[in-house]
Amino acid sequence: MSMQILARPADVRAVVKQWRMRNEKVALVPTMGSLHAGHAALVKRAHTLAEHVIVSIFVNPLQFGPNEDFTRYPRTPAEDAALLESLQVDVLFAPEVADMYPHGQTPHTIVDVPDLSGALCGEFRPGHFQGVATVVSKLLNIVQPDVAVFGAKDYQQLAVIRRMVNDLCMPVEIVGEPTVREADGLAMSSRNRYLSAEDRRAAPTIQATLQATRQALESGERDFAKLERQGMQALTAKGFRPDYFAIREALTLQPPSSQSRQFVILTAARIGNARLIDNVVTLPPP
Ligand code: PAJ
Repeated sequence: MSMQILARPADVRAVVKQWRMRNEKVALVPTMGSLHAGHAALVKRAHTLAEHVIVSIFVNPLQFGPNEDFTRYPRTPAEDAALLESLQVDVLFAPEVADMYPHGQTPHTIVDVPDLSGALCGEFRPGHFQGVATVVSKLLNIVQPDVAVFGAKDYQQLAVIRRMVNDLCMPVEIVGEPTVREADGLAMSSRNRYLSAEDRRAAPTIQATLQATRQALESGERDFAKLERQGMQALTAKGFRPDYFAIREALTLQPPSSQSRQFVILTAARIGNARLIDNVVTLPPP
């Protein structure tokens, strides 16, 4: 059957209700469109988890700051629909802003995950994770999927969503999918379109710097402050303006101690008009 494209939450609900009556499982893949091979990997994973796959495309104004790229965020609806059709997605849910936020400018109910939203990207993008948690709650409530798939590229986002689902007892399983990369290591991202040819040549430095830090940690280096400083310097030397380069405990995202067993190294760095994020996790303890 060919893919349905729906904009109204009530229409998505009606379709899902039919599937539910037949006891068929539903997987949701939330996105902001401008799709690439990373998104495709989430869709393929979703197919292994449920009989039906819904992909949402919604550039969510609530998660963009006033000086951020909401208006110029890349939008490629025709290409996105063709890709999702080829990936045998059942429903593309593509609401307008008014479908998701019918009360317009009046302040919206907000979902806040305070423990995980203030640091790292949250420090540089105030309100961002509240916007993400709120829209993901709405998407989960509209679709009511059995499972939802997210990328590990947005490591902090995945942690926020897992915590939200846990804290609010939402009846959905959250699945994380590894980061899909270009051949030179650059994490695929809709925002890579912002890179000039020169910036694109510098971009693999992010992954290389994270890997160097991973190796140092796996060799037993525990001077976290020094490693973070070196990471910042390596990025700055290649023309990046890093927001942060941070080592955290892999499971809690809290600052590490000498007792910590597994780490995640996370960075966000600006170059030209782009702000790129990436992360690497060290080997789990034996
Ligand atoms: P977006 O940036 O479009 O990403 C949608 C999903 O694709 C997220 O789960 C993200 O982690 C995943 N993804 C992006 N690049 C990836 C890559 N290279 N490899 C694997 N997965 C990748 O993240 C958002 O949209 C929004 O914040 C959203 C969750 C949809 C809420 O608005």
